[in-house]
Amino acid sequence: MSKLLTLHEFADRLLLYIRRRRTMLTFDELTRHFNSDRDSINAALALLATWDYRLVVRSSKGVKFVDAPDYLTSTEITYGLKTKSFGQRCYSYRTVKSTNDIAAQLAESGAAEGTLVTAEEQTRGRGRLGRVWYSAPGTGIYATLILRPKFSPDRAPGLSVMTSLALARTLGRYFAAGEVQLKWPNDILVHGRKVSGILTELVAERNKISYVLVGVGINVNHGAGHFPTELKQTATSLRRALKHKVKRVPLLQSFLVNLEKEYETYKKSNLTKSLSLLKRYSSLTGRRIEVSNGDGSIQGTAIEFDASGALILERRGQRLRIAAGEVTVKKT
Ligand code: BTN
Repeated sequence: MSKLLTLHEFADRLLLYIRRRRTMLTFDELTRHFNSDRDSINAALALLATWDYRLVVRSSKGVKFVDAPDYLTSTEITYGLKTKSFGQRCYSYRTVKSTNDIAAQLAESGAAEGTLVTAEEQTRGRGRLGRVWYSAPGTGIYATLILRPKFSPDRAPGLSVMTSLALARTLGRYFAAGEVQLKWPNDILVHGRKVSGILTELVAERNKISYVLVGVGINVNHGAGHFPTELKQTATSLRRALKHKVKRVPLLQSFLVNLEKEYETYKKSNLTKSLSLLKRYSSLTGRRIEVSNGDGSIQGTAIEFDASGALILERRGQRLRIAAGEVTVKKT
């Protein structure tokens, strides 16, 4: 082993090597390849076992990679990640207060667009409108992506809708048509219950965006006991809806791929190309709703969306454009 590598770094490299090769590799081959000795290889293998990687280790035959744990570590998230930049630089934590707060610090110190922060647990996960986002350990996806769009801040609200669409597409793969819905602007529902929420935070100066934080929480493997009493009737998880566990790493990876595509399109043409899909996913289309925001509240029928992500509401024969707000569906 090179003197410059820590055991942790060496274990990471060894993992990558045996993982890519997938066959039984002899200790001779490994010591030769890494210009190392058997003790160092053994120490690295022991460390990998503590990280819950499944390996076959036979002192007579060698080492073979079997399986990786479904942990949101940067090693797992970046392995085989098919994006250009989203998530390629990744900071993963076991416990944080909020991934949005960590991402804000990173963005303030110049982190590039596409930088991702994830956590296995949040102790003060934040939702919209000052709410709490319950972030049970080891079961959900709690992730924040840093964006640095060059467009003006008035196009930022559409980023939430764009993210919702990417998420709806991603989750849609696990369900039949109609089971996953998007509740404008940034909730995803499965069988009518909330499975995911998005908290987008914008920092701009003199009409120029410095950065946008796109925070996403997904209830993946939560059981009934993971939700507080007040959410038991309105929230769900993928596991509860599908009746089986879902691997979080591939789910996060495919979301990042979809989000990057959606973002590229959004930069060029807002949501123009996605309007019909948005309408199809929307849980609000044709429903009587009330939208409230800082200016008060308004009732009407949800019709469709415009290319900026605004909701078009019909009220007494008039079409109204609502840029942002909190929606309540009215009972008919
Ligand atoms: C909502 O539905 O109110 C939005 C919830 C957003 C939760 C995510 S979890 C990752 C990121 N960090 C946070 O503190 N919040 C967002």
